[in-house]
Amino acid sequence: MTTPVILDSAPGSRFRSPLIARAAAAGAPELVGSVSSIVGLSVDVAGLQGAVGDLVAIDTGDGGTTEAEVVAVTGDALRCMPLGPVHGLHVGMAARATGRPLTVPAGPQLLGRVLDGLGRPMDGKGSVLDGPDARRVPVDATAPSALDRARVDTPLGMGVRALDTMTTVGRGQRIGLFAGSGVGKSSLLSMVARGTEAEVSVIALIGERGREVREFLEDDLGPEGLARSVVVIATSDQPAMVRLRAAFVATRIAEDFRSQGRDVVLMMDSLTRVAMAQREIGLSVGEPPATRGYPPSTFSMLAQLLERTGTDATGSVTGIYTVLVDGDDHNEPIADATRSILDGHVVLTRDLAVAGHYPAIDVLGSISRVASRVTTAEQRALALALRQVLAARRRAQDLLDVGAYAAGTNPLVDAAVAHAAAIDGFLQQPVDQPVGADEAWARLAALLTQMGVRA
Ligand SMILES: Nc1ncnc2c1ncn2[C@@H]1O[C@H](COP(=O)(O)OP(=O)(O)O)[C@@H](O)[C@H]1O
Ligand SMILES: [Mg+2]
Repeated sequence: MTTPVILDSAPGSRFRSPLIARAAAAGAPELVGSVSSIVGLSVDVAGLQGAVGDLVAIDTGDGGTTEAEVVAVTGDALRCMPLGPVHGLHVGMAARATGRPLTVPAGPQLLGRVLDGLGRPMDGKGSVLDGPDARRVPVDATAPSALDRARVDTPLGMGVRALDTMTTVGRGQRIGLFAGSGVGKSSLLSMVARGTEAEVSVIALIGERGREVREFLEDDLGPEGLARSVVVIATSDQPAMVRLRAAFVATRIAEDFRSQGRDVVLMMDSLTRVAMAQREIGLSVGEPPATRGYPPSTFSMLAQLLERTGTDATGSVTGIYTVLVDGDDHNEPIADATRSILDGHVVLTRDLAVAGHYPAIDVLGSISRVASRVTTAEQRALALALRQVLAARRRAQDLLDVGAYAAGTNPLVDAAVAHAAAIDGFLQQPVDQPVGADEAWARLAALLTQMGVRA
């Protein structure tokens, strides 16, 4: 007796045998729907079936198609957000269900490449799918389960003294850079892009101006930085869906490197622009505005996005996200929501920036929730000692400003005053001079010895 051979076909197919599955697909009548209404950014397509997240291809008549992602399924239509311009679409255009979600290229061949918000090459260097390990993967993935995650217990050097010593980042940590506009978030991120000791950087520039993107690639990252990076770009003029998707595309690419056992750093500038894209989409499909016009989906999207980074059983994605603090109001909803999800926040202040103190990190206002797990007892003592000096100086600042501080009152304040230039020299750092973490710790130890705070 012979056992029948049943080959497994593609996952999701109704047929076990690939031959039969293919024959069924070839013989199936293709369902063509049509655009039934266009309101704001959203396009309703009638006559098709599809799931949320699937792509629909709208025939633009000139032989081209515009893809749109299904964001809601109503009784008689698929509500879609186009991944291209809405301009030029009209009611009655033919549309087809692709039956699949957006996919993203993955694999080591992506290093050195610049992609658009949907993962397509935009650097003119040819296909992004050439290479033995090149693949396409669906953009959405499930976050590693809490119990599969390795503990965050190893530091990851950022190349920035103030960060590496005072808010030490761990491999797999997610940290936010919070500041108002023009205070130096993007510049600090570019310092990290240059100085990080992570093997792979995935950099997502979302909602930025085109000019800034060019400067970042050419001046900040440079050819050697780019060689170990993958850059995903969706500028402010791109459709909201593309700006939103860009965040997930970059995250997916980073996750794929993590699944190969690599330590990756994912830098996203800016998370606020991603939230704003979600707001545009949510409002235009009829969600109610909640906090400051942000519909509830914004907050669930942020949680989903941020939960995907971190460690899994094989590697790590350290996430660094910039958060725009509107009008320097640190309690605005996106800043508030992200601060509670992230494992740390670095605050940049306008006061420091105005005084030319760059990077404008407010050391006392910044915290890394994993620092104590990724530093040695000796390092913690060094960081604490400088923190105490800075805190003492801050408490005495009013007195110092009016000249009412009497020398000798507090030895920590005395040290801070006598060695102000040395402290600033330690905390300040030019954008183009990354420093290794070991060197930063050695310099902190030397600084404290010089101040006489520690032997
Ligand atoms: N480390 C730095 N050194 C010198 N200037 C800086 C530094 N960081 C920021 N700046 C100045 O601040 C400006 C705005 O910085 P940017 O990073 O674009 O801010 P943001 O991204 O927060 O809007 C820069 O154009 C630059 O002039
Ligand atoms: Mg910026």
